[in-house]
Amino acid sequence: YPSNPQMGEGSMLERTNCRAKGGAAGFKVAILGAAGGIGQPLAMLMKMNPLVSVLHLYDVVNSPGVTADISHMDTGAVVRGFLGQSELEGALTGMDLVIIPAGIPRKPGMTRDDLFKINAGIVRTLCEGIAKCCPNAIVNLISNPVNSTVPIAAEVFKKAGTYDPKKLLGVTSLDVVRANTFVAEVLGLDPREVEVPVVGGHAGVTILPLLSQVKPPCSFTQEETEYLTKRIQDGGTEVVEAKKGAGSATLSMAYAAVKFADVCLKGLRGDAGVVACAFVASQVTELPFFASKVRLGRMGAEEVYQLGPLNEYERIGLQKAKKELAESIQKGISFIRN
Ligand code: NAI
Repeated sequence: YPSNPQMGEGSMLERTNCRAKGGAAGFKVAILGAAGGIGQPLAMLMKMNPLVSVLHLYDVVNSPGVTADISHMDTGAVVRGFLGQSELEGALTGMDLVIIPAGIPRKPGMTRDDLFKINAGIVRTLCEGIAKCCPNAIVNLISNPVNSTVPIAAEVFKKAGTYDPKKLLGVTSLDVVRANTFVAEVLGLDPREVEVPVVGGHAGVTILPLLSQVKPPCSFTQEETEYLTKRIQDGGTEVVEAKKGAGSATLSMAYAAVKFADVCLKGLRGDAGVVACAFVASQVTELPFFASKVRLGRMGAEEVYQLGPLNEYERIGLQKAKKELAESIQKGISFIRN
């Protein structure tokens, strides 16, 4: 689906090439699951990102409509839609960055792990496509449970012989976005001035905000620490319950996903000092995957940072997080190996 049905694919390609010749910086980005609750606002925000020259929107339903709609925005990126498995290859070929928000979201009473049965298979299929069509692309994996889907993706890539741990990133930026917001509220600051590292994973107790490392430097009472830690860990559930069965976080997630995609693209462009939290292959703990600050560069997550000094409360939280994380990681690995 070229964005203008009257125009053939050839002329769309020419236009893209013209823009490339003009020297405009631009990366090719695909969104898999682009017609969903996250996918649609994510597609809109990526269409507004000046670092994107080509935007491919893939879904198993409704992608032509979303593509037609988004393509009318007068921003630089050329938009193309792809519908269904038979068009997955076209969606992926040549991409620099692939963002995956495909899969079912939570309903009240569900944990992220309850999504495993359906989403594990979806992530496997999509990652097989990536291994075949754009093995060098950076992958931003949003589909839950992230603690298991990232290990699944790694196993798929290993099987295909294309695995590059630096290029596979589980998206935990919503945890950071929420932490910045809630901490700013307690401190009476503008959230844009606040930076909270959130490490571990992306589910319940595996989400570990490091409140002792907040910037600007500050301190919290024990009561504040407990309130903030719990609210950050349960932020997703807060939204699931408020939506009463209509899904989980979509708008704040799209915002957080774009914030993260943008730092990945800046890294690809070669900008210096680009740092964000993500769930990646890691040697920071004894676990094979862990979320922490990473430095993004042309090769992806080029450096994974240590956790830094933790206080007693965080050390206890880390033990709890690691116990649950170990099981979720193993579940993902076993899904592909067995
Ligand atoms: P949604 O149900 O609104 O959208 C999912 C989209 O994926 C749908 O358009 C669906 O057609 C599509 N899809 C299903 N199977 C597909 C396949 N095989 N290939 C391509 N597309 C496929 O769900 P929503 O709210 O957009 O959430 C998507 C995922 O993101 C869920 O797994 C949710 O748990 C997760 N999520 C992750 C967060 C994070 O922080 N990492 C935060 C919020 C949600």
